[in-house]
Amino acid sequence: MGKKRYCIVGASSRGRAMYAHQMVKAPYNEYCEIVGIYDTNPGRAQALSSACGNFPVYATFYQMIKEAKPDAVIITTMDKFHEEYAVKAMEMGCDAIVEKPMCITLDQARRILDAKERTGRHVTTTFNMRYMPYKLKVKELLMSGIIGEIENVTFEWNLIYAGHGTSYFRRWHALMENSGGLLLTKAAHHFDIANWFVDSYPAKITAFGKLDRYGKNGSFRDIIGGDTPAEHCHECPHKDTCKLYVDTTKGQLYFPHMQYDGYTDDCCVFRKDVDIYDSASVNVLYENGVTMAYTLNANAPYEGWRIAFNGTKGRLEAGEIMTGAEDLVTFGRDVVRVMNYKEGTKEFPVEAFNDAHGGGDQRLLLDLLNPTGDDPYYQRATAVDGAASVLIGALANESIAQGGKVIDVTERLGRELRSYL
Ligand SMILES: NC(=O)c1ccc[n+]([C@@H]2O[C@H](COP(=O)([O-])OP(=O)(O)OC[C@H]3O[C@@H](n4cnc5c(N)ncnc54)[C@H](O)[C@@H]3O)[C@@H](O)[C@H]2O)c1
Repeated sequence: MGKKRYCIVGASSRGRAMYAHQMVKAPYNEYCEIVGIYDTNPGRAQALSSACGNFPVYATFYQMIKEAKPDAVIITTMDKFHEEYAVKAMEMGCDAIVEKPMCITLDQARRILDAKERTGRHVTTTFNMRYMPYKLKVKELLMSGIIGEIENVTFEWNLIYAGHGTSYFRRWHALMENSGGLLLTKAAHHFDIANWFVDSYPAKITAFGKLDRYGKNGSFRDIIGGDTPAEHCHECPHKDTCKLYVDTTKGQLYFPHMQYDGYTDDCCVFRKDVDIYDSASVNVLYENGVTMAYTLNANAPYEGWRIAFNGTKGRLEAGEIMTGAEDLVTFGRDVVRVMNYKEGTKEFPVEAFNDAHGGGDQRLLLDLLNPTGDDPYYQRATAVDGAASVLIGALANESIAQGGKVIDVTERLGRELRSYL
């Protein structure tokens, strides 16, 4: 069988590091060929092509698909555009491989599911977390029945303040219309693994969220005295006083190409139009009766997460601290703990992987490009899986906007999500 042909839309950091740079190298290049790239920023598209063997750069998405004739399109643009390209790709006869989140609203999710049904094409949502050895160990243990039937889940995710957490407020993610907020652009990962772990789809959702530290709440304007802040750190007169000032001007991805669209990764985190939440809590009732309480906090002193499953035979706890809190004595990353009512507590060791995203990226990419064998742990995420995680985030946003209203997924979608399977 010949190599599969792929086009990439979105010469993003992700398009570059996860896909283009890897796909031109062994072992991946044995299975694939990149036959085109399109990005609204021609400078970034050209730079990516030049760095990865000079595959063709196209002036429009339409022209790329017409001329390059790919088997599949890899979509790594800003989240807001995932749906548009996924639907166009399918309508032009290609499969769609969509970075998470698959899209950012319920209407977009419905359009992708409808297009998939209409065209018969395949949609993959690339959830690398399902491929991280640590999370896979959790899935394996849950599937083994070690804690019996899961009854409820508590799940907490923390992003480090002034680091990864703040980074979402420096770029396009800071606007709901671009990213759907952290409950989509970030938590899509978390909702997907939660759905995968409990082996069900969401039935009802309720949520609260708020913005405490960024945008108009920032202390910056208070310190300076009510001035409108500069739009970007590199042009800001308050570099010496702002605690969240960054200098990213030496980076190669954005600054060299800002002449085309003005996009840089140093937007002021206190600009007034920031409208996403920096903390949120979401409650989910699953179709199988499991309940989940989830929290997200972008202003934490460390980067990490914890999950606990209570089941009919015991409890499973897992979690990691990735950055910060080095002095904190905790378990994580290398062990999953199970407390069984009859057999007592056992710790299950997991080998630690320091390569991209806890070992998830390389394993996902290989399985994506060369899907051999069965999928015993259901790691290959479908359009319905992609939609399930989007629906939790999007309906949580709707619930927050309505003061915490409980939203029924089937009622809002207009049909059962699993009817798209
Ligand atoms: N799975 C993961 O672990 C992971 C990690 C990082 C990012 N991501 C996802 O990857 C995607 C890219 O994120 P990033 O931070 O690398 O982005 P980025 O900011 O580096 O780049 C976004 C790109 O999208 C392009 N773009 C914007 N509008 C476009 C349009 N209409 N048509 C074509 N191109 C357009 C921009 O010009 C830019 O090159 C996002 O969906 C993000 O959520 C996933």
